[in-house]
Amino acid sequence: MASIAPSVHIQRAERVAHFEQDVWSIFTPLAIECQAVNLGQGFMNFPPPDFVVEAAREALLRNDCNQYSHPKGRPRLRNALAKSYSPLFGRTLNPETEIVVSAGANEGIFAIFAAYLDEGSEVILMEPFFDQYISNITMNGGVPVYCPIRPKGDATKNMAASEWKIDIKELESKITPRSKIIVLNTPHNPIGKVFSREELEEIGALAAKHNLLIISDEVYDRLYFNPQNHERIATLNGLWERTITVGSGGKTFGTTGWRIGWLIGPEALIEPALAAQTRIIFCVNSPLQEAIAIGFEQAEERGFFGSQVAAYEHKREKLLAVFRELGLPCTIPEGSYFILVNTEKIQVPSDYKFPDLLWQRPKDFRTCYWMAKEIGVCAIPPSEFYSKENQALAENFARFAFCKTEETLDAAAERLLKMKPFIK
Ligand SMILES: Cc1ncc(COP(=O)(O)O)c(C=O)c1O
Repeated sequence: MASIAPSVHIQRAERVAHFEQDVWSIFTPLAIECQAVNLGQGFMNFPPPDFVVEAAREALLRNDCNQYSHPKGRPRLRNALAKSYSPLFGRTLNPETEIVVSAGANEGIFAIFAAYLDEGSEVILMEPFFDQYISNITMNGGVPVYCPIRPKGDATKNMAASEWKIDIKELESKITPRSKIIVLNTPHNPIGKVFSREELEEIGALAAKHNLLIISDEVYDRLYFNPQNHERIATLNGLWERTITVGSGGKTFGTTGWRIGWLIGPEALIEPALAAQTRIIFCVNSPLQEAIAIGFEQAEERGFFGSQVAAYEHKREKLLAVFRELGLPCTIPEGSYFILVNTEKIQVPSDYKFPDLLWQRPKDFRTCYWMAKEIGVCAIPPSEFYSKENQALAENFARFAFCKTEETLDAAAERLLKMKPFIK
């Protein structure tokens, strides 16, 4: 069909006009075009657990599960969340006032920004960040302010994710009278860092000193490898009152497309977020809330969370072994399902032809492009998760997701080993 030049031009709104072409719209089609094994985007290419899928199937057959739910979320899910999370927060959570179900963690975060940001309010983000934060902030009139988490270990060797550190003085220097919110992400995407108690205490003390709301994005809170490791900032002294913790059914049960998430916090903070969310989406889809509720009800007795962690740990080891063999240093993730690989030793042929678009981006875009095209494995350039001024910090890294089947990881391993002649 011949393409037709648009005869009508309607100017887009400022709030979307500033969006740049995002990394996904470059690398997802590229992975398809060159039939690369896609370790780029963090979605599972294996099905959710049977008991959760079965619960969804049954929910679709019940009329009450096919109609509007309460804007707070279905009681069964809020009750299940309260039961599962109360021991983790060390307090009895009230499912009526302290929990809201959102359309994925992302929409929950959007609703918090909608509820708390005025034009020009500043939000402190640690880099690298989950890229959706930015548009969620700017669409609600806010201004992102950045502070990098820097690799402090020897980047030429494998590094523990805990060796990526935030400089607390630098973080404090970003706070102004307009600062309203600080966003924390632990376990962290893409570093795999699980913030220590001391780090959380320091961040919490800053938030208290400057009266900031803390959004603690803990979507990977069931995916960390050292059982002692993950701490919740909301449980630290005095911080419950200023923290909204964000969770994700997508990450917890391998159902990223179901778009179920939740916010947990004190009534005074949750109520405005609920008010905003009610006007954004009114309510979250009903049958899949029911299925996630049943997921939580049964997870404990089925030992689901433990076996899921063991499966991810196995996948992590499989992929790490490949980079070990290639001699490429990695950040060893303590949580989440990403590995940051140091690509400095990869020598992309100097006469390699890249599309012009990639010359406007940092070096990691070209390394990942070459890898997808010539090696057949797609990773994501992590400079996408930095502000312009700090992108250079990421240009020698690539992010690989290991939330994939054993077959996919084996196929990726086989291809990645072809990279040996290009490694100095
Ligand atoms: C750090 C972080 N926060 C939030 C999300 C969004 O989670 P959801 O899919 O539940 O919206 C993601 C998804 O990749 C993430 O990595």
